[in-house]
Amino acid sequence: MTSRRGFLTAALSVGAVAFVAPITKRAAFGQTLAPTPAQPAGPFYPITLPEERDADLARIAAAPPARGQIAHMLGVIRTTDGASCKGARVEIWQCDSNGRYHHPGDREGHEPDAGFQGYGALVTAADGGYGFRTIHPVPYTGRTPHIHVIVSGPGLRRLVTQAYVAGAPENANDGLFSRLSPEAQARLLVDFKPAPEIEPGALVGRFDIVVERSAK
Ligand SMILES: [Fe+2]
Repeated sequence: MTSRRGFLTAALSVGAVAFVAPITKRAAFGQTLAPTPAQPAGPFYPITLPEERDADLARIAAAPPARGQIAHMLGVIRTTDGASCKGARVEIWQCDSNGRYHHPGDREGHEPDAGFQGYGALVTAADGGYGFRTIHPVPYTGRTPHIHVIVSGPGLRRLVTQAYVAGAPENANDGLFSRLSPEAQARLLVDFKPAPEIEPGALVGRFDIVVERSAK
């Protein structure tokens, strides 16, 4: 457990350097950041949250490791004025490597992977950073690979969106993704790449998120 937490911490400290500089520069000129585009939640947000719901979706205590390609998704949550969001709640959920959601409404017929958590949640650190260890998303009938994301918290307008995989061939024909503007698509794409320094054999992708403050 300690080693996995270490992976995430290392990844965030490396990535934060590259990310913070341009944001600070923009904020200094009084510009605002465009919020991350919203996407539908879809039908498979868990009805009952799993007993284990930490930030490592690929490992459940006393279960075999999740099947699939291990992937970390990490980034920073900011508000449109450039401030980092400490204490924001980030939730993700996705189908397992068989394309099956842990949801009774998913009747695709594939066997669920008992080693995959399917859902995870965390609260952002002081610098707005977050990181999940999960599996690289796979396509399922009618959808390109994606990870569902919700960001919420005091003073924040709740954001529901989906992170997509850069370069996935199914993106072009996806009913949700293909309808987005090129600018919105770019904001929702995650470029998963090998990062042996973070975890050998795993992929790492960065998904920075901008949320609006809620009306007072
Ligand atoms: Fe979905």
